[in-house]
Amino acid sequence: MKQFPFSLRFSIPAILLISSTILGGINIQQETSNSFQRVEENVSGNARFAGEQISGMLEYLYRRGNIEQAEIAISKMQTDVNLSLALLYDRENRVLLATQYELRNRSLQQTPAAKNKRAFTQVRENLSGQIILSEDRQKIWAIYPVPLQTEPGELRPSKVGILWLSYDISRLKQQAFSDALSRSVTSKIALAGFCILLWLFFEKTLTIRAGQIVEVSKKIAQGELNQRVNIQGSDELAQIASGFNKMANWIQTNTEKLQASETALQKANETLEQQVKERTIALSEQKKQKNQLEETLHKLQQTQAQLVQQEKMSSLGQLVAGIAHEINNPINFIHGNIAHVEEYTQDLLDFVELVQQCYPNPSSEIEDWADEVEFEFLQEDLPKTINSIKIGTKRVRDIVLSLRNFSRLDESELKKVELHDGIESTLLILQSRLKQKLAIQVVKNYSDLPLIECYPGQLNQVFMNILANAIDALETSEHENQLRQITIHTSRVDEKWVKIAIADNGCGISPSIQNQIFNPFFTTKPVGKGTGMGMAISYQIITEKHGGKLTFSSTVGTGTEFTIQIPIQQ
Ligand SMILES: Nc1ncnc2c1ncn2[C@@H]1O[C@H](COP(=O)(O)OP(=O)(O)OP(=O)(O)O)[C@@H](O)[C@H]1O
Ligand SMILES: [Mg+2]
Repeated sequence: MKQFPFSLRFSIPAILLISSTILGGINIQQETSNSFQRVEENVSGNARFAGEQISGMLEYLYRRGNIEQAEIAISKMQTDVNLSLALLYDRENRVLLATQYELRNRSLQQTPAAKNKRAFTQVRENLSGQIILSEDRQKIWAIYPVPLQTEPGELRPSKVGILWLSYDISRLKQQAFSDALSRSVTSKIALAGFCILLWLFFEKTLTIRAGQIVEVSKKIAQGELNQRVNIQGSDELAQIASGFNKMANWIQTNTEKLQASETALQKANETLEQQVKERTIALSEQKKQKNQLEETLHKLQQTQAQLVQQEKMSSLGQLVAGIAHEINNPINFIHGNIAHVEEYTQDLLDFVELVQQCYPNPSSEIEDWADEVEFEFLQEDLPKTINSIKIGTKRVRDIVLSLRNFSRLDESELKKVELHDGIESTLLILQSRLKQKLAIQVVKNYSDLPLIECYPGQLNQVFMNILANAIDALETSEHENQLRQITIHTSRVDEKWVKIAIADNGCGISPSIQNQIFNPFFTTKPVGKGTGMGMAISYQIITEKHGGKLTFSSTVGTGTEFTIQIPIQQ
């Protein structure tokens, strides 16, 4: 609902005043118009009556030729205070008799009745009178026919005069207006008095008391919650006041409770905030410590794994180096003497041939022995056998060299080496795995590479890890009939870099784990088989130790290719 913008104390009397003024105005207007109408009706009645009487009388007097009496009758009319002018016209509309003597003998045009010329004609034709109200409603004219003379045998009088009476009603109207005004003013004063009484009544019973409620409600709104309204009685306002007081009580009680709980809440909040702060600090401290611990543990695990791997590689190296060393001496001994053996054998064979030439007919005993040992075959086969032994010892020497090459225990410093030697010796170590279980074909695609400055032992370790993983992948490959292959491709990238790509057509690496391959301890292999450190260490060796790059690409079911890129010079 729209709010009423003014206070009742002023708006009620204002409304009463305005409405009584409007009502008064309307009332005066109506009263006046009624009075005017009455005046017009009364005067018209009088004029009709006078017109009929006087015209009849004048007709009579004129018929009898008693003009004098007629004159007296007209002049007597002056006694009527409302009648301003009475004129009698002859048939030519010339004034015969008049209340104002000077108007006699004047034509119609020269008299005030000139305006009624048309009415004169009508009255003569109809022989009946007319009452006319002037346009300004200030005059009433009575126009009546007066047959002045009737000729003998005439049915209709030919000489008809006109009696014209003019009544001035302005004074009467003025009187009526002042009467109506005084009546209206009196009634308005009475109404105003009534209004004032009504207002006083409202003021006392309603406005002042309601004002009290308003005042108290304002104070309560400003926070003075102990304020109450004191209105006596049993009327609606008193009931409102009592309801208001109850409401105020309720508000006060609840506000006090609310304030108390707010204070308590604030206190609790502060305590909580403090606790949260302390706890947050403690937590972040704990988190920091936990992170540090986790980091340390991680480093520890990494170092441990690294140590294990290194230890593994080192023991393998030692073993390989020991074996190589042990084999090296006897094989050198054999290899060194084999040339003599070859020479001595050749000498012996040459000597036997010389003997055969000198003694073409040997004894039967010698012949039997020669047949028994198949001397001819022996002569032919012995050099071949010695040659095979020579090849065999060379192969053993090569293997030993490879083994020593692989172990390279003594080389913890940077050294310029032939990369292919490292790959070869690693393949040699893995020979049994490549050949025994599955026939894995190793395709070597070596380019002409310069000597590479590196840590050879560590690089061999990388080759070892990648090749071992490739063999594992080929072993787990599901394509039974497929040719298992490892392709090693070496190439020079540019003046500063070389590349070694080792690919297998094994099971491949699922995309979901591809980003974890280089994570320490990440393995998909059964417990005891893989530590999950191989690639992590390889990555470290290539990137950190050699400033190179280790990447891979893999497709499940197709295979994997690891690519090592290292600088030629460190
Ligand atoms: N050529 C590859 N084909 C398929 N999967 C591979 C290949 N190379 C590595 N992987 C995957 O990467 C994982 C991590 O290899 P990584 O050499 O680091 O550990 P591992 O071989 O499991 O254990 P180890 O420490 O004994 O080498 C492997 O478990 C394997 O799932
Ligand atoms: Mg591995």
